[in-house]
Amino acid sequence: MDNKIKKAVFPVAGMGTRFLPATKANPKEMLPVVDKPLIQYAVEEAIEAGITELIFVTSSTKRAIEDHFDKNYALESELEKRNKEELLEVVRGILPKGVNCVYIRQPEALGLGHAVLCAKSVVGRNPFAVILADDLIDGGSKGTMSQMVDVYSKYGSSVLGVEQVEQSETNKYGIVSSTPFSQKVTQLNGIVEKPHPDEAPSTLAVVGRYILTPRIFHLLQSVGKGAGGEIQLTDGIAQMLSDEHVLAYEFDGVRHDCGSKLGYLEATVEYALKHPTLGADFSEYLKNLKF
Ligand code: G1P
Repeated sequence: MDNKIKKAVFPVAGMGTRFLPATKANPKEMLPVVDKPLIQYAVEEAIEAGITELIFVTSSTKRAIEDHFDKNYALESELEKRNKEELLEVVRGILPKGVNCVYIRQPEALGLGHAVLCAKSVVGRNPFAVILADDLIDGGSKGTMSQMVDVYSKYGSSVLGVEQVEQSETNKYGIVSSTPFSQKVTQLNGIVEKPHPDEAPSTLAVVGRYILTPRIFHLLQSVGKGAGGEIQLTDGIAQMLSDEHVLAYEFDGVRHDCGSKLGYLEATVEYALKHPTLGADFSEYLKNLKF
């Protein structure tokens, strides 16, 4: 087993019904925040953390994701002809050298646990990351996955990215119960998928970032259907607690729930304000906006 985190799984097979009609023919992961699609932010976070193999678990309507990370000869030669050097760099720089993509089809929408299980043979016997592109996290100077890799390197256990949420929101997340371990890190005693606010063990929620040991695959194979009639990653992690320590890490960073329209709009505004060439004008526009 190689203990370095070199592989990340991106479950991107979901239908994105909350953004219809925008997501009828376009994957929700291709929705742009300012000028980059959500999936590219997720991929950049993985690459910053030292990950070199990107494993996308996709479905039939997600071809645009493959195209986005593939070479586009026609576009590149057109940009070359017109001497658009900067744009050429943008297009060519989407994936740095040495980073590879693998695409696996999830034949049926059976849940996040099932999507991760689809990546089993490609991940092999290595610890790996899972990144949900819907959760866009601005980690500031150090990306969230990079922070989590540090925690993994220190303790060698699975690590879940968590943050505090409102009590009324627990039914949207995997919620952990845990005890203090070290700064910003707690050790899991339990985890439950989308509990009703009255039954939630805490308000500490998992937000789309995981580092998992390969033990999870064995457990997901037999976990059965859970919340929403789906095979839940949360239930596999709950079972893992009988054999291994699992840590919850409260990352530094601001998370935007881009699976919801409001979260997506908030992300767009905040990323636009920080944008190197747009930020100042956009800020001016907002100041003068009358509503
Ligand atoms: C999934 C997971 C849930 C996690 C959430 C984070 O839920 O099942 O445990 O808290 O992602 O965004 P989904 O949002 O896909 O329903």
